[in-house]
Amino acid sequence: MALLQILAYPDARLRTRAQPVRQFDADLARLIDDMFETMYAARGIGLAATQVNVHLQVVAIDISGKGEAPEVFINPQIVARRRLGKVEESCLSVPGVSDFVKRHTVVRVHALDRAGAPVDREVDGMLAVCLGHEIDHLRGRLFVDHLGLVKRLWVRLRAARIGSARRASAPAAASPDATGIISRA
Ligand code: NI
Repeated sequence: MALLQILAYPDARLRTRAQPVRQFDADLARLIDDMFETMYAARGIGLAATQVNVHLQVVAIDISGKGEAPEVFINPQIVARRRLGKVEESCLSVPGVSDFVKRHTVVRVHALDRAGAPVDREVDGMLAVCLGHEIDHLRGRLFVDHLGLVKRLWVRLRAARIGSARRASAPAAASPDATGIISRA
């Protein structure tokens, strides 16, 4: 397995729309394993392939954050949603920022598993929120896009500062983002 580089906002590659997975082969299995390793190393609970610059519809989630509940959703589609709530989110691609966004907290998802078998599940709570966040990534959207203009400008300035600090201290250590937020995805 290998650690992959996580793209950081405002990298334009985060805006790429991911393509559906058609081949369930060894390359896909390796990508999924690497995504989980990368996500755990970054102490996140979700990661979309878009964030590691692979533009396929693959989402890795483990809401336990420690290897207890790994779940992969390939070509995921939300087919029903309810119970809109305000939830605090952060993102491995937007270090040091968290904010409240509106998400559905109960969703029904159609997807494929890592072997290509169909999955039809209703999920709720953190898993539902995380799925919404990751499916946004596959469409080139970030949680900060849901924020108001002033907040988005602040996030952009902050990202520029973090980016220049990283360049100045290269090679960068693993993300020194210690917000303590556990919903990083
Ligand atoms: Ni994210």
